Amino acid sequence: MIKGLIFDLDGVITDTAEYHYLAWKSLAKKMGIEMDREFNEQLKGISRMESLDLILKHGNKENDYSEEEKIELATQKNEEYKESIKQITPNDLLPGIEQLLKDAKEKGLGMALASASKNGPEIMKRLEIEDLFDGVVDPASLSAGKPDPEIFVKGAEMLGLDVSECVGLEDAEAGVEAINGAGMFSVGVGSKDAMHKADFIVEDTKDLTLDVILERASK
Ligand code: BG6
Ligand code: MG
Repeated sequence: MIKGLIFDLDGVITDTAEYHYLAWKSLAKKMGIEMDREFNEQLKGISRMESLDLILKHGNKENDYSEEEKIELATQKNEEYKESIKQITPNDLLPGIEQLLKDAKEKGLGMALASASKNGPEIMKRLEIEDLFDGVVDPASLSAGKPDPEIFVKGAEMLGLDVSECVGLEDAEAGVEAINGAGMFSVGVGSKDAMHKADFIVEDTKDLTLDVILERASK
């Protein structure tokens, strides 16, 4: 029986995946690296520093910067990103998400956030959803990021549930792998192609109703 939902944030609850993309794209441009949406799929769910490494590799510049310079570059990206999240309000919850969170709360399901983002708590505050959640896994506490299952396993622990009692929701390929690796039922938000490893795929969050999720997960 499903007793908990473990959510990714960026691209599932709100459209910050787009802001991450735009901020990385502008930093990449400054470094003389072109990146498109297809390449960006690889960055979803991946930590800030790992994303920077992937971009540098993509532009064949992996040996061009010292660790210190890389920290400075990642900080620049984060500053631009933080500017864009300042505009977030509760209206920025993706379609269907508010209802899903409310229905899950009403039914007594546990809810945890499993986001790689260090900006997660601030975004939840801006969306005014932090009270609906029972816990937020601190990405700084992880020994390995997505696709490692650790973040979802910790989410389940936070809820006091077995992984088999939880559903994980993701929009990143690395995130779906992490959910599957944790032994949870995975819901993928996105194209059939990008989400092909998910147990249940929706192209749009508006199709994420609690009834459908529970029905699919208990099959
Ligand atoms: C994930 C995003 O949720 O968080 C990634 O999908 C992002 O794109 C990662 O790099 C880390 O985010 P932040 O806000 O800590 O830089
Ligand atoms: Mg995401």
